[in-house]
Amino acid sequence: MNKIGVIGAGTMGNGIAHVSALSGLEVVLVDINAEFLDKSLAVISKNMDRQVQKEKISADEKDLAIGLISTSTEMDALADCQIVVEAATENPKIKASIFKELDEICNSDCILATNTSSISITEIASNTNRPEKVIGMHFMNPVPVMKLIEVIRGHLTSDETASVVQELSAKMNKIAVECNDYPGFVANRILMPMINEAIFCLMEGVAEAQAIDDIMKLGMAHPMGPLTLADLIGLDVCLAILEVLHRELGDSKYRPCPLLKKMVAAGILGRKTGHGFYNYK
Ligand code: CAA
Repeated sequence: MNKIGVIGAGTMGNGIAHVSALSGLEVVLVDINAEFLDKSLAVISKNMDRQVQKEKISADEKDLAIGLISTSTEMDALADCQIVVEAATENPKIKASIFKELDEICNSDCILATNTSSISITEIASNTNRPEKVIGMHFMNPVPVMKLIEVIRGHLTSDETASVVQELSAKMNKIAVECNDYPGFVANRILMPMINEAIFCLMEGVAEAQAIDDIMKLGMAHPMGPLTLADLIGLDVCLAILEVLHRELGDSKYRPCPLLKKMVAAGILGRKTGHGFYNYK
């Protein structure tokens, strides 16, 4: 494998392009918005500088990796990729139309992966004529730092596709752990109820935000507290995942906290808007 396509120049798409280029793959980063693509190259460069400063990579390795990344606003640029990882907006209709288009554009050997955090892989695959080549590659934020790729097999994903993705993950210096297609997979089925419960604690006045986070950080050795983590992930993303869990598993224990709903409705989405459970301005 030597050429990977990445769709979506948001935080996750940037991170996937970053680790792919550092692993020596040629990367084509596609987004409908040219301005996002420019910004994304600047963000990738800044994040690689961090790694140069920490002596994780050399300045030459950074330059080489940056040189491997090209950008385009056209999906056609993905035609000769051996794998495409879609990291577009978490919207089933948008993903369906992207996968229909990819199935037409990409050659028949190309693996089509999605970084979805909660949409069914089997459903996404049903938009293509190659469901055996469709798989979930769920990267964790911040992608350059987190070791895991949660690899999700759709109902028809082949062993061969899963094994190519295992090899690719190792090449990216990540560890792929497999699970089956079920709402929220494993990572978010366990993480989101914890974050939701932390928001209930805040809403019910059990403790202040900082105290809730300190209790989980100092008592459970979590690297960041659940409310800080929710701000990093994005409160709209947390709400969307909880809604999938609630709707598809049908258990009231997944009901999103009213405070989370209210904050999202008010446009308070965490770090990306400069304001969440904490103020970042
Ligand atoms: N790019 C490159 N390097 C980065 C980086 C980035 N974007 N962000 C942080 N780093 C590096 C830093 O340079 C630093 O490197 P060293 O260890 O070599 O010093 C290291 O990561 C730690 O960063 P900091 O010292 O700045 O800060 P920290 O010690 O507080 O760690 C953190 C930051 C890595 C984010 C840590 O707090 C953490 O692991 N938090 C939990 C993150 C988490 O749970 N992510 C999963 C979210 S769920 C998800 O993504 C899936 C979903 O579907 C919602």
